[in-house]
Amino acid sequence: MTIFKLGVVGQPIKHSLSPIIHQEFSIRTGIQLQYDAYEVPPEALDGFITNFFKDGGHGLNITLPHKKACIASAHVLSKDVELLSAANTLTGKEGGKKIVADSTDGAGFIRDCEDKNIQILNKNIIILGAGGASQSIIPSIAKLGPAKLVVDNRTKNKTNSLFNQFPEIPLLDLDNFNGPIDMVINATSAGLAGSFDWDIIHGLDKETIFYDLSYGPSETPFLQWASSYSTHKFDGIGMLIFQAAYSFELWFDIAPPTKHIKEILFKNND
Ligand code: ATR
Repeated sequence: MTIFKLGVVGQPIKHSLSPIIHQEFSIRTGIQLQYDAYEVPPEALDGFITNFFKDGGHGLNITLPHKKACIASAHVLSKDVELLSAANTLTGKEGGKKIVADSTDGAGFIRDCEDKNIQILNKNIIILGAGGASQSIIPSIAKLGPAKLVVDNRTKNKTNSLFNQFPEIPLLDLDNFNGPIDMVINATSAGLAGSFDWDIIHGLDKETIFYDLSYGPSETPFLQWASSYSTHKFDGIGMLIFQAAYSFELWFDIAPPTKHIKEILFKNND
């Protein structure tokens, strides 16, 4: 029986939950796989990816800080990857001679919103942050027709670069928006080392949905901050599971069952 060789590449990588998720997908689909976490520094990335696929590797997930750099090792880029200039999934084809790069983060985010009955159509959505995490979800959100898609970032000139990256998408700066806010998405790394605070003066109320792309074993600092506004709060664990499921589907053409994976992750992290 074939055992497919898979893995996730990042730096650091030891806290990655991807090996547990894919192991669970393996159990649920019967596809035999070996999924390992690889800590690789930037200067070794291209060589690592090339050799991984040459040596029979089937697929790789790519995480921070390599999502942009990894596309230099790929031969074929999906439309999303071309738009984002970043990828999180590589698939080996033709015996490892052809590497295809995809991005499943945006689709994973949208699938999690559907799962949680979070509506995007005609809603005012604010994204905090203008880095890679923010970029990865903007085109997918825009496709679903929000009323307004607003971005706020600590460093303003980075917001402008983000706007220039997506000239087709009507993005607004928070300074130019003062309507009601239906959803706030945290795509920053603010708060990872302590508490979270953000200056949003208008538009929040108890119906506002707060969604953190980050996650952890306990409530994230962003969601703790959000508690004074609303009880509609979600962390990014669902997005993590769905982006992994979409990667698995790219590798094997099978959508793995995703129910109760969250509980398994928490059990493993006790
Ligand atoms: P990622 O790929 O995870 O998005 P990134 O590209 O380094 O990482 O972006 C990190 C984001 O978090 C940026 O929007 C950053 O704001 P700046 O552009 O001003 O640096 C934001 N961020 C990180 N620490 C922050 C903090 N303490 N307060 C506010 N924003 C912060």
